Amino acid sequence: MAVDEGTVILAIETSCDETAAAVVVGGTEVRSNVVSSQVDLHDRYGGVVPEIAGRAHEARIASVVAEALVAAGVDDGGVDAVAATVGPGLMGSLLVGVSSAKALSLVWDVPFVGVNHLEAHFYAAFLEEPELQPPLVMLLVSGGHTMLVSFEDHGRYRLLGSTQDDAAGEAFDKVARYLGLGYPGGPAIDAAAARGDSEAVAFPRAMVREGLDFSFSGLKTAVINHVRANPEVSTEDVAASFQAAVVDVLVTKTVRAARRVGAGGICLAGGVAANTQLRADLLDAGERENMAVHLPGRVMCTDNAAMVGSAAWWRLRSEGPDPLDTGADPSLRLDFVE
Ligand code: KG4
Ligand code: ZN
Repeated sequence: MAVDEGTVILAIETSCDETAAAVVVGGTEVRSNVVSSQVDLHDRYGGVVPEIAGRAHEARIASVVAEALVAAGVDDGGVDAVAATVGPGLMGSLLVGVSSAKALSLVWDVPFVGVNHLEAHFYAAFLEEPELQPPLVMLLVSGGHTMLVSFEDHGRYRLLGSTQDDAAGEAFDKVARYLGLGYPGGPAIDAAAARGDSEAVAFPRAMVREGLDFSFSGLKTAVINHVRANPEVSTEDVAASFQAAVVDVLVTKTVRAARRVGAGGICLAGGVAANTQLRADLLDAGERENMAVHLPGRVMCTDNAAMVGSAAWWRLRSEGPDPLDTGADPSLRLDFVE
């Protein structure tokens, strides 16, 4: 099939706790982008409960897909391919999106494309800046992953560094839970930090001096120890100081990575890329270093299906469709060049 600027892709994302569907044309034009968040279902448990997530996807997927199609003004026969996130993520959640996408691909007799969720996060950058040109350095910071990737070309990625323990988003979520700020922790810390003093507590910047790998579990422990030893400390100050420590390391290493590989620009990807301090500090660093920094809008940073539709377009163009026996894979990895 010819894949071009007019190719219409219906994309579905159900890897974790957002039920999402989008219609994306030509890899960059977002005709609709519907996200049904399950935050209200999981917040009383302080985190995502996989069984509840799977059931909620099942209950919502049909209406979310219908809404995306109607909002995009797509009629019967108007979709050229159907894509879904096939991993990594929660098995029960992934299965709902993958099965729905395959069913639609069969009914409409159009190709199916299985998308890697991490690759989809990279493509948020291209949705808003279609003219963006590799080579780029991507800082992918989500609830499950923290990695620095050299995006050498579409489909050609080199891993430069990653976390040795907790992901950045996981650290935000765990610290927020400890501070009683609720779930999801990232936005809660972001908001509390805005009212606090980021220099109130000098939390450690693990491994900041060299290398491109990360470690956040020691920082989480440092926060807990500090609050235990100083029960009267302001929660806002702790949130701001914790956030400053995370952002400091992320920005320092991202700039180091971009310099090392001679990248033409830096992109942020993943839910933590919505963080106010990270966005501001990375822009400042880019200006200081004379390096282009590309920040997708916050809605495109957290889980959504538009980014899946964009990644699917590039995949479909370069490698063609996937067979219908492609399964969901909760621990799917991204292929990196050596
Ligand atoms: O990419 P994402 O929506 O889902 C995964 O693929 O994991 O990322 C979710 C993560 C959560 O850990 C959440 O707390 C974090 O992104 N997050 C933030 C912010 N918004 C979401 N972290 C820091 N500041 C934010 N504003
Ligand atoms: Zn994600």
